[in-house]
Amino acid sequence: MPTHRVPGFTAPAPGDLTTVDVAGRKLAVTVEDGQAYAFDDACTHMRCSLSGGEVEDGAVICPCHFAAFDLATGAVRSGPAEEPLRCYRAQLADGTLVLEVPE
Ligand code: FES
Repeated sequence: MPTHRVPGFTAPAPGDLTTVDVAGRKLAVTVEDGQAYAFDDACTHMRCSLSGGEVEDGAVICPCHFAAFDLATGAVRSGPAEEPLRCYRAQLADGTLVLEVPE
C-alpha cells in the first residue's frame, strides 16, 4: 500500500478532527493519546463530513444523525449508518503524518 507523508501536520485538539487530502481522497484525522487515526471523511450514511463531528470513547460521532464508528476499525457502533467506515493506517512522528492509502 503506498505511503503518503504530510509534513508539518498539526494535530487537532483532543476529541477534535481535521482533514487532509491524500491521493485524491479527503480523509478525516484525529489523534488520541499520540496515536493518529485516519478514515474517509464522508459518513457512510448520507455522506456528511465526519470532520465536523467529534470523538468520544474511541469513536467518531457523525454531526448529522449521530452515527458512531469505531476509530480503530471503522465498525458501526450505533446507527443510523449500516456500512462500516473505511480506515487507513496512520502514524504521527516528529510532526509528520504518515498514511497508507491506495492510489
Ligand atoms: S450522515 Fe452521518 S449519520 Fe447520517
